[in-house]
Amino acid sequence: MDNTPPHSWEDASIRHFAMLTMLEIDPSNMAGRPSGNDSEKAVFADIVSKLNLIPGCSILDVGSGCGPLTELLCNYAEHREMSLTLFDQTVVNERLVANYPHLVNKAKFVNGVFPNDKIELETRKFDRILLYGVLHYFSNPKSILLDLIDFLNPGGSMLVGDLPNFDKKERLLNSQFGKRLNSEFQQQNNLKDLGLEFNGEIPKIRDQLVLDILETLRSLNFNAYVLPQNNNLPFAFSREDLLIERLPD
Ligand SMILES: C[S@@+](CC[C@H](N)C(=O)[O-])C[C@H]1O[C@@H](n2cnc3c(N)ncnc32)[C@H](O)[C@@H]1O
Repeated sequence: MDNTPPHSWEDASIRHFAMLTMLEIDPSNMAGRPSGNDSEKAVFADIVSKLNLIPGCSILDVGSGCGPLTELLCNYAEHREMSLTLFDQTVVNERLVANYPHLVNKAKFVNGVFPNDKIELETRKFDRILLYGVLHYFSNPKSILLDLIDFLNPGGSMLVGDLPNFDKKERLLNSQFGKRLNSEFQQQNNLKDLGLEFNGEIPKIRDQLVLDILETLRSLNFNAYVLPQNNNLPFAFSREDLLIERLPD
């Protein structure tokens, strides 16, 4: 593996997730969520309802990962004749197939780093795009979303899930409820600190950025909304989702 220090937040994140594929780590922990299928199933149910995954639709999952959420999505898509494209770096896609060999024919795998390798998607468009737990690994999240909306079919929608909004977390921790929740979380936490190393400044998702994204997308004639997460999701009180819709032609 390359030992030079990462130049950018993107490089640091990509390398971090590549390194995790070489370790024996619970796949949910790898994605930053607690172990256990119950929470992965709750996250998946939330995605299905927000993204309105109807039979026959085409789906692109960017930063798809190699854990249970991807397995749930592959199985769901297969039973409803949806075409599923998984876009992630090569080692992550390889680890997914190593973890779940039965998935090999259930999706089209595109190996690459977005947006550098977006050409690998050719001129394809999709009815649904999923970016779950990934946007905060880019230093310019808005430009990534502007790139991604080009891949949406008319009438299509994109879910940008699990945004760790720093301001939302601060509001939570300022409340008595949040302080209690945080102390319970610290006691029960089964998440390992997987140590993402980066010497530069780590960009934060904040209210201002979220509102700026909504305003920009709306000015481009997309519908864009902030959605809360169901309370049974692991970080429901500090995270939120964005739903973006391209109007039909
Ligand atoms: C926190 S994991 C989330 C995985 C999955 N979406 C989930 O929620 O279970 C982040 C994933 O995004 C991928 N990723 C990060 N930056 C990426 C980029 N620029 N292009 C493609 N994949 C990327 C990583 O390789 C990693 O697999």
